[in-house]
Amino acid sequence: MASNAPLDRRNSVIPDIETLARPTLEERGRQRFCSALRRYAIQDMPEMLKRDFDARVKPQRAAKGEALDDALAIERAMKPEASYRFYSTLRYNAQEMCFLSVQDSIERALPEMIEVSREAAARNPAGGSLRLDPALEMPRYLTTLDVHLTPGCFHSEWVEDDVAQGAVVSLGARVFSATMSHRSWGGVARVISRWIKHERPDFRPLRILDLGTSSGKNLIPYVEAFPGVEAYGVDLAAPLLRWGHAVAEHEGIKVHFSQQNAEALDFPDGYFDLIVSSFFFHEIPVKATRKVLAECRRLLRPGGMMVHQELPATRLVDAWEDYFWNWDTDNNNEPFYTAFRAQDPIALMEAAGFDRTRNFAQILPDVNAYPDRHHAFGWDEPGRPRHGKGGWYVFGSSLPL
Ligand SMILES: C[S@@+](CC[C@H](N)C(=O)[O-])C[C@H]1O[C@@H](n2cnc3c(N)ncnc32)[C@H](O)[C@@H]1O
Repeated sequence: MASNAPLDRRNSVIPDIETLARPTLEERGRQRFCSALRRYAIQDMPEMLKRDFDARVKPQRAAKGEALDDALAIERAMKPEASYRFYSTLRYNAQEMCFLSVQDSIERALPEMIEVSREAAARNPAGGSLRLDPALEMPRYLTTLDVHLTPGCFHSEWVEDDVAQGAVVSLGARVFSATMSHRSWGGVARVISRWIKHERPDFRPLRILDLGTSSGKNLIPYVEAFPGVEAYGVDLAAPLLRWGHAVAEHEGIKVHFSQQNAEALDFPDGYFDLIVSSFFFHEIPVKATRKVLAECRRLLRPGGMMVHQELPATRLVDAWEDYFWNWDTDNNNEPFYTAFRAQDPIALMEAAGFDRTRNFAQILPDVNAYPDRHHAFGWDEPGRPRHGKGGWYVFGSSLPL
């Protein structure tokens, strides 16, 4: 074991893998710049763009008899505009730069990181596990593009027992979301678990499954919310699972990670009380979504529930918001955004065997923006936040006892 790896305050025998990449002062400065740039590009610029659209582009087009009342029409009208081109260029580059800004420090620390991850897998001091399947076939939808411009995507491995992509995804996402500590992560899990406790105060899940868990950052908070729950996270990408396993074992949180395709899982029928996911379904084709939802139906026990955080469906947002979300389809290596969002989640769940009357799609309050509000927003509720700005869109269902 590397001698200079810092030990956790709680004396975990597994060092904190998240701290091993030690950026130089210059690299840190670069990361902070990238965080600010991305935040500006994704939070402030769209509002400026909307003002330009409302005040200039829309009236100009209206004068020519063009209505611009759907996302495609808005996209066509905005594409040649300088305001859009500036926004889009900045946003694309900010996204790419966030991940690039962590790569050098990761490369330097990689041998040490691999050692820590191996140690975690060998010792499992928290009682979790890591089950990998080197023979698992990676679907083309994962391997064709570097999803959301993450260099190397999720699954790539360059050396034995590689964790590089785990580091790039985790540490890059910290820069990306301007949260420099992973302890502030897991916001979606906190939102959903708070809402579940409000909706079903007697619900005591014994086993929870997180689909497309990456490194489990939106799984770990459920273990804190439901003490004693057995936590399982599945993903296709071994480097992300190795990384997540090392984090959980360091934190003293028991999580069972396994490398599986969520379209066909190896757990027995009715094994889970709660199935969750976050930022997952928009990354797979609709055909795969149908298979995953069928797996959720098979794996949920009577009385169980599932909640998936996702991008809001087209039919639930106005034309401008629709246009805003679909930017990623063409520009951010997210080819399934538009097709996923075009689906009616209620119908998708019904087709997978869930009772339509128990299916839901709603916006939940963010924990920081709404510390005292636990219940979901009504779609027509005045002042309702939009997804990603104070609220989180989720869809899901439950099974009768
Ligand atoms: C954007 S990430 C999800 C992030 C994570 N859930 C979170 O909240 O931070 C999408 C993840 O889904 C995984 N994935 C994509 N297709 C999958 C599949 N068919 N089965 C399991 N995992 C899959 C990818 O490897 C990736 O880690």
